[in-house]
Amino acid sequence: MLSETMMERLNEQINNEIYSAYLYMSMSACSTYTGLKGFANWFMVQYQEEMSHAMKIYDYINDQGGQVLLAAIKEPATEFESQLDMFEKTLTHERFITGCINDLVDLAIAEKDHATNIFLQWFITEQIEEEGNDNDIITRLKIVGEDGNGLLMLDRELAARVFAPPAASDT
Ligand code: FEO
Repeated sequence: MLSETMMERLNEQINNEIYSAYLYMSMSACSTYTGLKGFANWFMVQYQEEMSHAMKIYDYINDQGGQVLLAAIKEPATEFESQLDMFEKTLTHERFITGCINDLVDLAIAEKDHATNIFLQWFITEQIEEEGNDNDIITRLKIVGEDGNGLLMLDRELAARVFAPPAASDT
């Protein structure tokens, strides 16, 4: 069973995850517009991942007998200076999300809500992976710099990313 505060905070996190999806969808659209379909694919897979994160929390609130209450999603940025700019903004955003997850864990511990604490551990691990991926791509984009060929090579690599829904044992 969830406390009122925890239910409210988990509902806020659904909103944060859907906003994340919306932001990456926007980055995908901008990448497509500039002809970088591999980057567009990477961000669209990220969109799918974020929606799956929102649904994990949605299902968890329902499983705990709580009420899912959806709210307006804020408008994402629609203009970016470069692919590097997109990934730097992605990393900044993911650090914010990591902070939100940490705050939720702090609340679960304070409330002795062991179920929610265990549920949130998956998100802690996921955030390590997400920030790691973003850092890796930022490093490579800095190496590429203004080299168009390098950017196209990275674009080809990012085109291979596919969405893998969380395994049943993870949900
Ligand atoms: Fe759902 Fe990118 O964290």
